[in-house]
Amino acid sequence: MRLVSANDYQQLSQLAADFILEKVKQAEKLTLGLATGSTPIGTYQLIIEDYQHNKTSYSHVTTFNLDEYVGIKPTDPNSYHYFMEQKLFKHLPITSEQIHIPNGLAVDLEEECRLYESRIKAHEGIDLQLLGIGSNGHIGFNEPGTTVNSRTHIVNLTEETRRSNARFFEALSEVPTQAITMGLGTIMDSKEILLLVSGKSKSKALFDLLEKKPDPSLPASILDSHPNVTIIADQDALQYVK
Ligand code: PGA
Repeated sequence: MRLVSANDYQQLSQLAADFILEKVKQAEKLTLGLATGSTPIGTYQLIIEDYQHNKTSYSHVTTFNLDEYVGIKPTDPNSYHYFMEQKLFKHLPITSEQIHIPNGLAVDLEEECRLYESRIKAHEGIDLQLLGIGSNGHIGFNEPGTTVNSRTHIVNLTEETRRSNARFFEALSEVPTQAITMGLGTIMDSKEILLLVSGKSKSKALFDLLEKKPDPSLPASILDSHPNVTIIADQDALQYVK
């Protein structure tokens, strides 16, 4: 794993946007894995600004998001469909055919998980997967204890994750209890991974990821065995890392 140290969130966002945009501009065909959460918002904003200045083409790009809540509509402001539309897609020349996000309203959720995997395979896998990390070390919604070879699956969200995400909802009771997420095996199949870590609340998870042996209680620690991972972290996240 390569560790890139950023002074602050703004620089982290710039480094991440430059990293992604270099692939977008160089590749003839690119399958991008995308993430939601607060961490990539600055990166997405800079990708939008690049488009506004440079008219970068996205016609060769396909995207797959990591996860989506079960049971909320794509038009619900708390859905990850809505987040991606507002924070990135509506500002780029990218069509709905190029975008993939798990359907948390599917009648047959198991079938939706299988279909999601087969769609990724049909695109010959993910070239670059963008990740955030939870304070408990989750990636996507792969909570502590998730098996390392898991594929896209339905998860019961932990209380810690629900409480952490409750800030976006009116009340904790409105936070969904389940989600669909790419599995750790799905994420590990990506050819390259870019993990963004920002803020003191992530510093313990980042320290454990860098300093400890891989352990299922810290799902992100599986990344240690991936051949091509770049971590961009800001100083707050790096507070325990020497
Ligand atoms: P955050 O979430 O970017 O909002 O901190 C990351 C995550 O929980 O995976």
